[in-house]
Amino acid sequence: MNEGMVGSVKMYKGRITGKNVMEIEFRTFYTEDLFLGDILVAQDDERNLRFLLRVVDIKFGVNQSFELHDKERRLYKIGQCAPLGYIKNGNFRKPKTIPSHFSCISSPTLADFEFLKSYTGDIAIGNLRSGEDVLDFSVGVHGDLFPYHIGIFATTGMGKSNLMKILAGVVMSSGKYGILIFDPHGEYYDGGGKKNSKGLKDIPLSESRLRIYSSRKLSGPHNTLKLSAQEITLADLRQIYSFSEAQHEAAAAAEYKYGKNWLLELGDKEPEEIKNELGGNFYEATLNVLKRRAETILRFSSIHTDPSVSITRSVVNDLWNGKSVLIDTSNMYEQEELLISAVITRSIFKTNKETYQDPAKFNKIPSILIVIEEAQRVLGKNPVGELSVFAQIAREGRKFKTGLCAITQQPKLIDEELLSQFNTLFILGLADEKDRSILRGSAKQDISQLGNEIQTLMAGEALITSPETPFAIPAKIHLFEEWLKKQNVNKKSKTAIDEDFY
Ligand SMILES: Nc1ncnc2c1ncn2[C@@H]1O[C@H](COP(=O)(O)OP(=O)(O)O)[C@@H](O)[C@H]1O
Ligand SMILES: [Mg+2]
Repeated sequence: MNEGMVGSVKMYKGRITGKNVMEIEFRTFYTEDLFLGDILVAQDDERNLRFLLRVVDIKFGVNQSFELHDKERRLYKIGQCAPLGYIKNGNFRKPKTIPSHFSCISSPTLADFEFLKSYTGDIAIGNLRSGEDVLDFSVGVHGDLFPYHIGIFATTGMGKSNLMKILAGVVMSSGKYGILIFDPHGEYYDGGGKKNSKGLKDIPLSESRLRIYSSRKLSGPHNTLKLSAQEITLADLRQIYSFSEAQHEAAAAAEYKYGKNWLLELGDKEPEEIKNELGGNFYEATLNVLKRRAETILRFSSIHTDPSVSITRSVVNDLWNGKSVLIDTSNMYEQEELLISAVITRSIFKTNKETYQDPAKFNKIPSILIVIEEAQRVLGKNPVGELSVFAQIAREGRKFKTGLCAITQQPKLIDEELLSQFNTLFILGLADEKDRSILRGSAKQDISQLGNEIQTLMAGEALITSPETPFAIPAKIHLFEEWLKKQNVNKKSKTAIDEDFY
């Protein structure tokens, strides 16, 4: 940590030399270390205002008659800054004015960030960051904002999964919200076998607050992942198959005719019999395709014919009780994994939607966050026909306390209209310019000047944008394994809500 940053010493950095409301330049010494993303203060003594600035570019300058022997006197640096705003009488305002010429630039003190406290939420996932310095100032999101959806975007290796583990861990410790994680990579249970890597099962409260479902064998207690064929609707199948118009019509007719048993009947009966029972002019070839699909699904190890085995009801119950649910689908092929995610997600959304009709009951349900990895698969562009349940939640979830947490390394593949429904974005290092430019369009703050910084973020360094905060908050996310060590130390000190509350 930069020693000058914290405490009362305000390190002198230079003076403002020019520019306009959106871009401010200051001149600093050749020897001064400047980093993209550094947050600095310009003290305007004439008007008694303190401006917060963010370094967005750094250039070299040279005085005339440069000679190598006195380069330290002849060379200087120019920090180009985006003004974040200014503090007047303790209140933060957007930058509608500029600091006076030659205002003094210095490092901020913790007191300069006091106004941010009211924005940083109850789910603390990291610390405020200024360039490469980590400040002793906690930042995060508010759980009440879960239904307004969260996006976690980064190139592989930049810290998406770690952030997810922290988020789950803090939510679990708070006990105030329900979080459901679909894990297709098998990394959340125990860290996925990476050396020194830990998982959700290692969180002190996991015994009472975490429910685990998996269809593979895990080292500790868990439940078997089981759904019933009767729960699967045509809409769910559209997550994994594309249907021609004729196939869709026939499937819809079968669903209408056989009700919940439609997949079982399709699997059991011969196309000719189905054709007769449906009564339409469906080709046997079409029905044969449907039959083969039904058979494929009925062969999935997680799909059962007995409706009483299904886990969906208990998943909803757990979430309503402020518990965390982990669904490990890592031993499945993508089709089965996507189908299961769709069925469970739809079931939660449907239950919440129904409960909305009963305000007294609805008021007691906590906000729920459904985490989906590789989210571009279910929130992608040009979905044919009906909306996926995930797209539906992105659009309507807020009203029904159901939020999505979409994790992807390719935000550019997400439908832009859906992306614009995501209020809180965690932007970690993103190498691809197209991905960055999509986010510039949908972030709730202007991040157009932050391209350089996003490109140079290290693993675990993030920008958090949301409509609640006055600017994109630079953060360093806690490393899960280090956060865990601290939790174990404070283990005995707290518990949150009464388990019988709901
Ligand atoms: N907040 C962090 N602080 C320090 N190191 C981190 C942080 N987040 C991630 N890392 C490092 O980066 C590696 C990859 O992180 P991971 O979360 O698996 O990335 P992703 O899911 O985006 O591929 C981790 O194993 C860890 O070493
Ligand atoms: Mg990952």
